[in-house]
Amino acid sequence: MHHHHAHEHAQASLTGSLLTDHEVILTALERLELRLGEMKRRGVVDVETVNKFLIFARSFIDRCHHGKEERCLFPCLERRGIPREGGPIGVMLYEHELGRKLVRELDELLRSYSEGKTAPETIFSKCEEYTQLLRQHIAKENNVLFPAGESVAEREDVREVTECYEVIEGKEVGHEAHKELERMAKEL
Ligand SMILES: [Fe+2]
Ligand SMILES: [Fe+2]
Repeated sequence: MHHHHAHEHAQASLTGSLLTDHEVILTALERLELRLGEMKRRGVVDVETVNKFLIFARSFIDRCHHGKEERCLFPCLERRGIPREGGPIGVMLYEHELGRKLVRELDELLRSYSEGKTAPETIFSKCEEYTQLLRQHIAKENNVLFPAGESVAEREDVREVTECYEVIEGKEVGHEAHKELERMAKEL
């Protein structure tokens, strides 16, 4: 018998690394929501916690995770015939931009809150806008786009795309910092 089980296993899948990221992101969103509940009861914003979340959102979610999707996975899916304009990839790209815009807005609001110029409720609702966007975005990727991608991917795509993930992760945040951010998500 010359089956190469170990090798097949190590080859993982086209979207495995991204699914793992999604788990980490969902944990961070859950933690943020928990913290928001406490803040609402007290009627004040815990600036440090929201700032920590912003660091996580900018580095882990935007630069690294969305970077992996935009620069590694989506180009591969396009080559295999999944449409961009007017298709699922276009929608995902649009939502990434929306997320980036919300992060910038939240950052500005938090600064103005610290100066006493913004009500806590404004911060709460901006955070909720972000968590809702990300939750439904991740659900669409997990349930629709990623399975579609797995079904059109060729064997060589898997190797190419997973190598690309490693490069982006190393370049955008660094492998050590990536692990650090994973811990941060759990402790938020
Ligand atoms: Fe995405
Ligand atoms: Fe994603």
